[in-house]
Amino acid sequence: MKLRILKTILWFLSGAGLTVILLRIIHGPGSVTALTDILPWGLWKGGGVVALVPIGGAGFTLAALVYIFHWDRYKPLARGAVLLGLMCYSSVGIGLTFDIGIWWRIVYPVVFWQFHSTLFEIAWCIMLYLGVLAVEFSHAVVERFNMPKLLALIKKVSIVFVILGISLSTLHQSSLGTLFLATPFRLHPLWHTDLLPFMFFITSIGLGCLTISWVALLIHWLYDAEQPMHPISGLGRISAIVLSFYLVLKFAEIFIAGEGSLLAAPGLDSLNFWLEILLSALIPVALLLFKKFRTSPTAMFWISTSAIVGVSLNRVNVAGLATQTATQSVYFPIWPEWAITVGILSVAGLVFLFCVENFSVFPAINRKRVVKAYSGQRVDHADWKTFFFRNPLASVRFYSMAFVIAAGLTFGCLPEGSVYGVKPLQTPTQRPRTVEVLKVANPDEQGSKFLASAGDPTDQQADPTNVMSIDGNRDGEHVLFDHAGHAARLGGKSVSCQLCHHMNKPQDKATACHECHSDMYLAVDIFKHKLHVDKLGGNGACEKCHSDPEQLKVRENTTACEKCHQDMRSSKSLVSSAGPVKNNKACGYKDAMHNLCITCHKKQQKPGKKTGTGLAGCTRCHQEPLQLSEQSWKPGR
Ligand code: HEC
Ligand code: HEC
Ligand code: HEC
Ligand code: HEC
Ligand code: HEC
Ligand code: HEC
Repeated sequence: MKLRILKTILWFLSGAGLTVILLRIIHGPGSVTALTDILPWGLWKGGGVVALVPIGGAGFTLAALVYIFHWDRYKPLARGAVLLGLMCYSSVGIGLTFDIGIWWRIVYPVVFWQFHSTLFEIAWCIMLYLGVLAVEFSHAVVERFNMPKLLALIKKVSIVFVILGISLSTLHQSSLGTLFLATPFRLHPLWHTDLLPFMFFITSIGLGCLTISWVALLIHWLYDAEQPMHPISGLGRISAIVLSFYLVLKFAEIFIAGEGSLLAAPGLDSLNFWLEILLSALIPVALLLFKKFRTSPTAMFWISTSAIVGVSLNRVNVAGLATQTATQSVYFPIWPEWAITVGILSVAGLVFLFCVENFSVFPAINRKRVVKAYSGQRVDHADWKTFFFRNPLASVRFYSMAFVIAAGLTFGCLPEGSVYGVKPLQTPTQRPRTVEVLKVANPDEQGSKFLASAGDPTDQQADPTNVMSIDGNRDGEHVLFDHAGHAARLGGKSVSCQLCHHMNKPQDKATACHECHSDMYLAVDIFKHKLHVDKLGGNGACEKCHSDPEQLKVRENTTACEKCHQDMRSSKSLVSSAGPVKNNKACGYKDAMHNLCITCHKKQQKPGKKTGTGLAGCTRCHQEPLQLSEQSWKPGR
């Protein structure tokens, strides 16, 4: 019964997770996470990758104990540990896939080698190690299918893979810590230390021993098998030693770095730190000292739980939680994020149980034991419960139902943004400002350049001019634009204006661009339905545009804009798309500027100049922002 309940729950959670994954693939991570540019590493990276890797550390720890040191006491748990590692690392790989922006680029590190990146090293280690784990576990699979020759071959080469696996683990367990060496100003000093890689490595050993104990205890309980307390109590002793070494190191580091006072500093960070230390090391070490607890299944279960929660908290802290003070921003994963993480882990759990049932993973759990764990009582055909509980297909029905209900519920409860995709951020544009600068000749170059104030005496001769400072999104990166100078070159007064001002609002000439190109990057529809209804007389106005009530109310069927706005478009313009109407969607401000300005600058560029340096080069318009004084800001144009 307990097996069925557990599996039903796992199927339910995987149904929820897979639904969210599907939407994340369609709409991108922004639609299902609460991540921001300031805190881009959230639950998936901190919890799903950085914290899951040490949990998978069981694999290399046990492999070392059994195959290198030949401590046969731990042999009954070795295969389980390898399988646990395999599951954890597969989950890490899958989780990471959906965490990176363009998910299918997860394979890029294979092709594009970036030697300067710690993540590159981690990616390779994890990939290779996953392969090594698969080879190590293939023993069990080959055994099951009775292929003695292949088995002999695998056994012969296996020591190579064991050693390879241990070295790869040592490398990436520590280099996950290396990642965070780069964040000294972000990560709270209680966590940040040059020893991070080493500490990550030690804790992964201590935790590895306890996670495999936790899993073994749970599995043996589920299948009503006798608990393998002999190896588990031994692992308890090892992790007590390792974790107490970690404790000494951790506190020594804190006091030597002179950060001891932070331990008692009031605030969430120190509270968090103590909680983490208590759960990850203090409590486990204190309890593991007693043989009474080491040999009790219940005690060992709770001790391991405490360590798993504590060490995971440590990783989550380093990866994000303990950076929130420095970044002054708060992040809490929203439930779709949890759904994905928990969903992936549930699938891993189901695969784990499948392997336990079908291959010989733990010696105490064999085919007979599995059949017994599932056998119900005699079938009573008159009972309604037979349909679900005592039918040969009962479990399958139950699991499918849980899966489908979860998928439906999740889909129904997700916020609109997750289902339809989040709308892009809007960046409204604002009018250009007028500033007073010195316009001086640009030696050897076409055109002039602008100075805030006279640098050398020759500049004094330049007269101060009013120019436009174009900074649509007000981020300070302005482009100085000699509006009057450009207009004069193009024929001055009324001739020139329409060349750039290709469209005007009603009763206006040379409408400012930002009024229509009103978003920095997104295209905006300039037709406002409500405004028109209001201006044209409310409910009576409809037929002025929707003249044929039979027809669909789309733009093609309504009265053309030009019927009422005869001179909305200038007949002669430099703007390349002024001709055919593009459904009145005004492109983003930046594109509007570039399309107008760069197109002409390219044409006007002196022949033989490379685009990078000539009139069309970026720096011709995007020169260093000038440090303008208060007096240079002029009211109006
Ligand atoms: C119709 C063609 C044309 C268009 C459109 C145009 N420019 Fe120019 N621009 C020029 C020419 C020609 C020069 C060089 C004048 C010279 O050699 O003295 C120039 C020079 C400049 C300079 C150098 C300083 C100066 O005034 O000599 C800047 C900065 C500049 N343009 C910015 C812009 C921006 C920003 C836009 C778009 C809003 C723009 N230009 C649109 C033709 C154009
Ligand atoms: C002829 C002038 C001109 C040239 C040449 C030019 N730009 Fe621009 N660019 C502008 C103007 C005007 C804006 C609008 C500035 C604003 O509103 O902040 C702009 C805006 C931008 C923005 C958006 C700025 C923001 O605040 O988000 C980027 C990015 C940009 N340009 C990149 C480039 C690059 C890269 C090149 C070279 C390939 C280039 N530009 C060449 C005139 C020019
Ligand atoms: C080379 C292209 C060009 C020419 C020629 C040109 N303008 Fe502009 N004008 C611009 C740009 C670019 C802006 C600023 C973008 C914006 O409004 O966001 C602008 C802005 C303006 C503004 C709004 C300023 C504000 O403070 O909101 C007015 C008014 C204007 N122009 C009038 C004219 C008149 C009148 C002429 C003809 C004498 C003219 N322009 C010729 C490109 C041009
Ligand atoms: C009355 C609204 C309005 C004003 C004012 C306006 N535009 Fe536009 N603009 C549009 C619309 C709408 C389009 C889409 C094309 C069309 O329907 O003609 C567009 C298209 C463009 C394009 C072509 C973009 C593409 O898709 O290639 C450029 C460049 C442009 N505008 C630049 C400007 C500049 C520069 C100014 C100011 C000097 C300006 N616009 C003022 C409405 C406006
Ligand atoms: C100035 C012309 C104009 C007037 C007046 C007008 N409409 Fe529209 N209407 C349009 C255009 C253009 C569209 C197409 C909108 C689009 O493509 O986004 C539209 C679309 C619609 C739609 C389709 C749904 C939508 O939002 O896309 C409905 C419904 C509608 N109008 C109802 C009305 C009613 C009711 C009135 C009178 C109260 C009215 N309209 C007055 C021009 C007008
Ligand atoms: C039946 C006549 C009619 C039609 C058709 C019509 N408009 Fe208008 N439009 C008006 C009137 C009237 C105003 C208000 C003018 C005023 O502010 O005094 C207006 C205002 C506008 C404005 C200025 C809004 C502002 O912010 O001040 C824009 C832009 C505009 N219309 C675009 C369009 C476009 C694009 C279409 C075609 C899809 C269109 N109009 C079709 C009558 C019409």
